[in-house]
Amino acid sequence: MAIAQPGLWKRHEFFEKNSILLLIGILIVVAIGGLIEIVPLFYLKSTIEAAAGVRPYTPLELAGRNIYVREGCYLCHSQMVRPMRDEVERYGHFSLAAESMYDHPFQWGSKRTGPDLARVGGKYSDAWHREHLKDPRAVVPGSIMPAYAFLDRPLDAEAIGDDLTANAKLGVPYSPDMILRAQGDLAAQLDPDGTDATFPQRYPGAVLHAPGEKGRASELDALVAYLQVLGTMVDFKLYDDKKNLR
Ligand code: HEC
Repeated sequence: MAIAQPGLWKRHEFFEKNSILLLIGILIVVAIGGLIEIVPLFYLKSTIEAAAGVRPYTPLELAGRNIYVREGCYLCHSQMVRPMRDEVERYGHFSLAAESMYDHPFQWGSKRTGPDLARVGGKYSDAWHREHLKDPRAVVPGSIMPAYAFLDRPLDAEAIGDDLTANAKLGVPYSPDMILRAQGDLAAQLDPDGTDATFPQRYPGAVLHAPGEKGRASELDALVAYLQVLGTMVDFKLYDDKKNLR
């Protein structure tokens, strides 16, 4: 007994019996779907929602970030708080796309042998970070994090201006003035007296740090400056307060 088939199936049979036509049909349908998804991206200026407070890294923070990448800290630490209750309660507000818009490459990571670091800035003192990086077990008994005592060596920041230039090419808004002053700004952030009054104008909200050793910047100084800025640029209290007003 023949099964009654609706018209659409009957017509589909035509494709199923001609594999080349089926292939061409699939290509056309997938291309339409693809175009609908991809074409708007050429017209949108940005797919990232802006968040107040996000600024490019200072030269010192950027140098620290380079060390973070070089040492492969991302192999054990993620930098993205997922929007799930357990994560938000442990680490704080979930990460926004805008928070890593100036990260090239981003450090979201996919492995958490250690905790997420997206909001570690301001959680500990600079001194704690120094101790912890030099000898994790000195401050966290039983820690399995490797020691990075060798980072106490002088920071090679000869090329930090080039670094800013490369980032500017990738869309980070470093002005020619910022690039020109990169070396000076790196030193300015390691001067807790804040002698250079123009530094905060270029990097609003940047925290000044005391160098481990007077007169010279170490890799540790840069890495600590980077860790201390993570997750501190956006003031989430502002957002929460606005919600409270409603
Ligand atoms: C082999 C895995 C591993 C690597 C590599 C590693 N860490 Fe860790 N890290 C851990 C573990 C485990 C902890 C939790 C125990 C502790 O606090 O020492 C931790 C803790 C931390 C903390 C404290 C976080 C908090 O909220 O208490 C910081 C900051 C940190 N690591 C920074 C770094 C940096 C910077 C690097 C690269 C120079 C790095 N780690 C490399 C495993 C690692």
